[in-house]
Amino acid sequence: MFSIEISTFLGRFHPLIVHFPIGFIFLGILIETYTNIIKLRIHRKVIAFCWMMGLITSIFAVIFGWLLTLNGYYIENQISLHKWSGVFLLFLTFIGWLIKSNILNLFKKQDFFINFLVILTLVIVGHQGANITHGKNYLYEYLPSNINNFFQEKKNVKYYENSEIDSIKIFTDLILPVFENKCIDCHNQNIKSGGLNMLTIKDIKNGGLSGKSIIAGNSSKSLIFQRATLSQDNKKFMPPTGIPLTYDEINLIKWWIDKYLNSDLKLSELKLSGEEKSLLEKLYKINMNPKPYYEKLKDLPKINIDELEVLEKSEFKWNFISDNYELLEIKFTGKKIDDEKILKLKKFSNHIVSLSMTNCKLTNDNLQKISDLYNLVNLDINNNSNISDDGIKFLKNLENLEKINLYGTNVSNLIFENLVEFKKLKKIYLWKTNVTKNEVDKFNLENSDKQIFLGI
Ligand code: HEC
Repeated sequence: MFSIEISTFLGRFHPLIVHFPIGFIFLGILIETYTNIIKLRIHRKVIAFCWMMGLITSIFAVIFGWLLTLNGYYIENQISLHKWSGVFLLFLTFIGWLIKSNILNLFKKQDFFINFLVILTLVIVGHQGANITHGKNYLYEYLPSNINNFFQEKKNVKYYENSEIDSIKIFTDLILPVFENKCIDCHNQNIKSGGLNMLTIKDIKNGGLSGKSIIAGNSSKSLIFQRATLSQDNKKFMPPTGIPLTYDEINLIKWWIDKYLNSDLKLSELKLSGEEKSLLEKLYKINMNPKPYYEKLKDLPKINIDELEVLEKSEFKWNFISDNYELLEIKFTGKKIDDEKILKLKKFSNHIVSLSMTNCKLTNDNLQKISDLYNLVNLDINNNSNISDDGIKFLKNLENLEKINLYGTNVSNLIFENLVEFKKLKKIYLWKTNVTKNEVDKFNLENSDKQIFLGI
């Protein structure tokens, strides 16, 4: 048996050798057709000779092609069609030679039939072979772009432009897709080339025949990184066939090995540098700036403007926060508010994201009436001295509240117990209230996601 080195060396002659059968068979068919047209009688042995040469060189083409597959660098499901149609072509050439040399007499139109069948198979086998050598898009690449779009094979790229960053996991969603595109065909649980399966972190860590393929915190010592960054003409370069990793993909793998190999963290759990963010944006269109809450509210039913205008009678001013959303900003403009007026807002309880009721003698009980404004993000109730800690308790349902202005109200240090329960609350304004600076500093220190402001 040949060693892998010798079989690879010989196998590489396959793309050269395949041109001989093509040439001989075409020549045979050409001579036959041409002499038929001009009605020249030549000895049939000339044609049979061309087919015999075609047959002999086909046998070599098949053997050398088979040698080429032995090195394991070709993925079986990508080459099997080429391989078996190549063998079929060899069989057809054999039948063709039998016919042309009058050993076999099938039926009347046999000459035309075998010529046609062989040419058709030759074109198919040749095209598949060229796809393997030059890539699937080679033939169509330079067609005008509208025709070319039809033929080009679509790349399987994942983008996360609409995903929340707390749903994106580092290995599963960022690293594995790169491996799936470029490595997994040869490194999975069934085909473990070099003994390496790259489907899970654990398998990757276990490595292949050469031992560990990856070392946490040390990309330059990790086999996976080393083999993907060799010079492309090095025979150890990975992937050995197909499209190499891009510069950005290599940086991504390096970032993963150096920093986050040990667990499949969510993107939202990391503190990323500007450079890291722009890499992720470039590769996956991930927008690292958290999206405002209202972006999730695209599909609210349309607001009836006539009904909105009724609010004005109760001294509410209204405004749409943007043209694209059915979301409202409401401001009370009167001097004194009461439950009846507040209940007018009920109709729009899903649509109100910002509410201002300042300096209008608002009471704790009034606050109970706004506890169903579920999508409220911003609440301004400053300068209402009747508001105390008890009123804040009524707001606990407002899970999406991000900002609350309580300046000039009567809340005290007791408010801190309530504030921690607002998960999304980020900014709290408490100037001119009964809270003390010491407690505020303590709260700010303990709750890094929230910030209390004691001045304007
Ligand atoms: C077309 C098949 C194929 C593809 C695609 C492929 N490999 Fe390989 N890989 C092999 C074969 C065959 C071997 C074993 C021979 C060798 O070590 O060169 C191997 C070996 C390896 C090894 C050495 C394992 C060991 O322990 O010896 C590493 C590491 C590796 N590949 C990484 C990759 C990476 C990373 C990718 C994707 C960027 C990739 N491979 C894509 C075929 C492939």
